[in-house]
Amino acid sequence: MDIKNLRLNYKKSTIDFKNLAENPIHYFMNWFEDALKVNKQEANACVLSTISSDNHPSSRVVLLKDINESGFTFFTNYQSSKAKDIDANPNVALNFYWPELERQVRITGTAKKNSINDSDTYFESRPRDSQMGAWLSDQSEVIGLGYNFIDKLSSLESKFKDKAVTRPLHWGGYCIMPVKVEFWQGRPSRLHDRLVYEMKNGKWIYKRLAP
Ligand SMILES: Cc1cc2nc3c(=O)[nH]c(=O)nc-3n(C[C@H](O)[C@H](O)[C@H](O)COP(=O)(O)O)c2cc1C
Repeated sequence: MDIKNLRLNYKKSTIDFKNLAENPIHYFMNWFEDALKVNKQEANACVLSTISSDNHPSSRVVLLKDINESGFTFFTNYQSSKAKDIDANPNVALNFYWPELERQVRITGTAKKNSINDSDTYFESRPRDSQMGAWLSDQSEVIGLGYNFIDKLSSLESKFKDKAVTRPLHWGGYCIMPVKVEFWQGRPSRLHDRLVYEMKNGKWIYKRLAP
């Protein structure tokens, strides 16, 4: 397979270094709004990287479900591999890539479990089959090749018949509180624009980086 000539000359936009936000979360929100306009699939899909207790990195896609002044929230199973990694080491990274905008955002920060209330509120807003799914799957455990979820689903359906599906305690959110956020805008001739924010003594400082 000859892929060596696959390349784009990025030219859709620039970073206006004279017009920056003081807080990278605000800058992210602007970019995220742009992404929502052009990415009809899942602009909120991002790659979460964690480090295991024996120091092996691992990455997987998750869906961003909230952004606020505290940080970036996603939801998962608290017994999954990623949750075990976070228990051992809360330092994580998130990566967004929006090819339609020729933009990447790299975030590093600390993951902290959401409050019970916040996890409950989001869980209640999910469709019933997604709520059931949270009960059905022991995420990242090995299951038989012929494993069939139907039996488990029927017993769950009886359990919650005519009732709201409650959140399983092993399922909830994490908020990633950022300490570093880099914005990358593709530019012609590989002379890309890069803007990095770092938290220093409780304040955000920003710098431009060479491409
Ligand atoms: C588009 C997409 C969105 C996903 N969103 C989530 C999510 O929000 N939460 C989640 O736990 N897994 C999500 N997954 C599945 C994860 O990538 C991963 O397979 C799963 O969480 C198990 O990861 P772990 O074994 O590292 O814990 C998503 C996968 C894809 C491809």
